[in-house]
Amino acid sequence: MNRDDFMILKNNLIYFDNGATTLKPKCVIDKMVDYYTNYTSNIHRGDYSNAIITNKEYDQVRTLVKNFIHAEKEEEIVYTSGATESLNMIAFGFFKEILGKDDEILISKAEHASNVLPWLVLEKEGHGKVKYIDLDENHELVVENVKKAITSKTKVISIAHISNVIGDIRDIEAIGKICAESNIYFVVDASQSVSHIEVNVLKSNVSFLAFSAHKMLGPTGVGILYGKEELLNQMKPLKYGGGMNQSFEIDGNYILKEIPIKFEAGTPPIAEVIGLGEAIRYIEKIGVSKIHEHEYELKKYLISKLEKIPNIILYNKNSKSGIISFNIKDVFPQDTSIYLNTYNIAIRAGNHCAKILKDELNIKNTCRISLHLYNTKEEIDVLIDALEKSEDIFKVVI
Ligand code: ALA
Repeated sequence: MNRDDFMILKNNLIYFDNGATTLKPKCVIDKMVDYYTNYTSNIHRGDYSNAIITNKEYDQVRTLVKNFIHAEKEEEIVYTSGATESLNMIAFGFFKEILGKDDEILISKAEHASNVLPWLVLEKEGHGKVKYIDLDENHELVVENVKKAITSKTKVISIAHISNVIGDIRDIEAIGKICAESNIYFVVDASQSVSHIEVNVLKSNVSFLAFSAHKMLGPTGVGILYGKEELLNQMKPLKYGGGMNQSFEIDGNYILKEIPIKFEAGTPPIAEVIGLGEAIRYIEKIGVSKIHEHEYELKKYLISKLEKIPNIILYNKNSKSGIISFNIKDVFPQDTSIYLNTYNIAIRAGNHCAKILKDELNIKNTCRISLHLYNTKEEIDVLIDALEKSEDIFKVVI
């Protein structure tokens, strides 16, 4: 699917590490080069021609993002440096102000560090208690267990839409409905989902949503924080400076701008925002449902092949995204990854920043393959061939 758009693939690279970051199509790179080459200027400050072009290119991305995630208003879309910053802003700019010591924050043991640590810090500072929703026998987060974990003290549920190790697609529409009925804030980390399946913040009654551009065919250094208008109006900025203030005086009085600008102090990553816009146009031309179908088809193909290799342990056969976690029996995952690199195959090995998931899996580290639209069955065949041959190699080292 559209492989020619990804110049890096011409180097015979087999790239299976899309959960860490995706490759970038030529149109995204060209769009950023165009900004740097032809109209570099700051935003919302200049009155000359190039500044006017930049303002237009930069501002229209907010509308693209709004439509892409089905939000109601441009004001609800805040540019950040990535999902990590977005989640920190949500925790420290909003929840720190409203959570009491005994209020409960529900997360799961399969969450990424960015959706665990901010909550743990809040708890330590006396704002809320972190509780974990049990995972099911497949290490997936199911609605039934969300219901069981809710108590009268639950104030917020914060989960990934797709977990970055197990790859289960959480039913955020059903969970959002439960949150609405029980007056619970609902935070969704869409980092692993946003270029793979539809994200609809309205349908899922999401209070806040976070994601990064670089995991959706866009550049590094930019991400999105979505928040319902009334919640962003209550939220405090964590950064103060140029661009976000209306006025400040020698007597200490200051007035901040309205949302979303009050959260965007300083010169933002302009080229990156413009690149994100191009990534959205690119994804929309193909359609996320088509991307998902392709990845899920590949996943099923890969699983069917992996199951035939005797020494492979699979951790998430059932999950419905393009993420596959496995190990070769008795082989350290990093060794598997280094071995596959000799075939020019890029996978990720480690704990994938989901450091408490090890308590569920009974294993600290795994190898992870995470697929995207440009992966093919032929690439999977090369991987399978390499894994089959690995038995002889690792026999020597085990
Ligand atoms: N969060 C990224 C991953 O899962 C880096 O690999």
